[in-house]
Amino acid sequence: MATKMENISEVLKILDGALRSNASMATSYAGLLAEKLEESGERQQARLIRERLARAPSALASAQDAADGISFNSLPVDGESRLHTVDVSKPDVDSTTLMVPDAIESRLADFLANVEHYENLQKAQAALPSRLLLYGPPGTGKTQTARWIAARLNLPLLTVRCDTLISSLLGQTSRNLRRVMDYAEQTTSVLFLDEFDALAGARGNERDVGELQRVVVALLQNIDALSSNTILIAATNHEQLLDPAVWRRFSFRIPMSLPDPNMREKLWRHLLGDYATKDLAWKVLVEYSTDASGALIEQVCLDAKRTAVITGKPTVDPLELFRRLGLALALVQGKILNTSNQEIVYLRDWCRTIFSLRALATLYSSSTRQVSTILNGGSSNGNTQKQRKSEAK
Ligand SMILES: Nc1ncnc2c1ncn2[C@@H]1O[C@H](COP(=O)(O)OP(=O)(O)O)[C@@H](O)[C@H]1O
Ligand SMILES: [Mg+2]
Repeated sequence: MATKMENISEVLKILDGALRSNASMATSYAGLLAEKLEESGERQQARLIRERLARAPSALASAQDAADGISFNSLPVDGESRLHTVDVSKPDVDSTTLMVPDAIESRLADFLANVEHYENLQKAQAALPSRLLLYGPPGTGKTQTARWIAARLNLPLLTVRCDTLISSLLGQTSRNLRRVMDYAEQTTSVLFLDEFDALAGARGNERDVGELQRVVVALLQNIDALSSNTILIAATNHEQLLDPAVWRRFSFRIPMSLPDPNMREKLWRHLLGDYATKDLAWKVLVEYSTDASGALIEQVCLDAKRTAVITGKPTVDPLELFRRLGLALALVQGKILNTSNQEIVYLRDWCRTIFSLRALATLYSSSTRQVSTILNGGSSNGNTQKQRKSEAK
């Protein structure tokens, strides 16, 4: 076959793949080459390549892709994807802060060290595959951790939202997974499978069990086929749904948890920054955010900061900050507060230290008398007795 110079890069990649015994790389690029040949009118040559690919079972996926005109290159390298299964980003160190307890930090450092010293570790036969599983409740910083790692390694982050992968490509999930992983192998990057349980939670799901089990098998095969220095991070809120075989594929597993008091203080201080008042009741803030995730704290800070900016204040209003925190926590606990009166009763009950009658009156632009009426639920003062009488009539 007389190879034109313009195809030399594919030929070299195919060669690379073959030499590295990386069949998926070789076949993907062969598929791409076939496509290019076809485009330039070399139908016969394209057909020969595709026939050869079709004969190798493992090459099926890529050959089909090529036949569909979906090439390997069309993964969203430049943000223009036909698939929308991968999002490419380049998080930077300065804007990606992560606040985790020191024990977690040192486990993350272990993972980073394993990646950074991979070659030497491998020579010493002490390398672990660069596979990290992050698990824990929502909003505890799993996605943030993936960004942080990519930033630390100065590599692009390829984020795959596994739930969209499976719902939009039911029946084709395995093929799609393959494509994503092949792509990750070609570029030096961090492959991040977010909402991983969507893929890896085979059992106890109401979806077609056979379909999902096939997905799990494909997932295992794909993870196994990755070269062990390909950096793979997966994150899940539901680790109990993970198939044990999938779980075992990850050499590093880090549980993320709700922030402890120390972390909460750091988060509050960092996220409020210059918008904190000098005399802010940090202790109370830390104590009353016990059940809050990092994400919730961030949301509360952002909202309070926004209000400050919009109303032209240099700092957040502490009362407003506490109110937002209280209401956010109520929401998480499923408490529904529809009226100002309900909010007043809830806030007073939630944190008496902050929500004095006067504070509530200020917040809700009413008098302490009105607030106290609301708090007493109308049972202990003249006004409401009158009301009751009128209701009884
Ligand atoms: N430990 C943390 N350190 C820094 N920021 C955090 C932390 N936890 C949560 N956040 C903030 O909350 C937001 C949501 O967190 P995220 O990483 O998406 O949580 P998860 O993926 O665990 O649901 C992030 O954008 C981040 O700014
Ligand atoms: Mg997340």
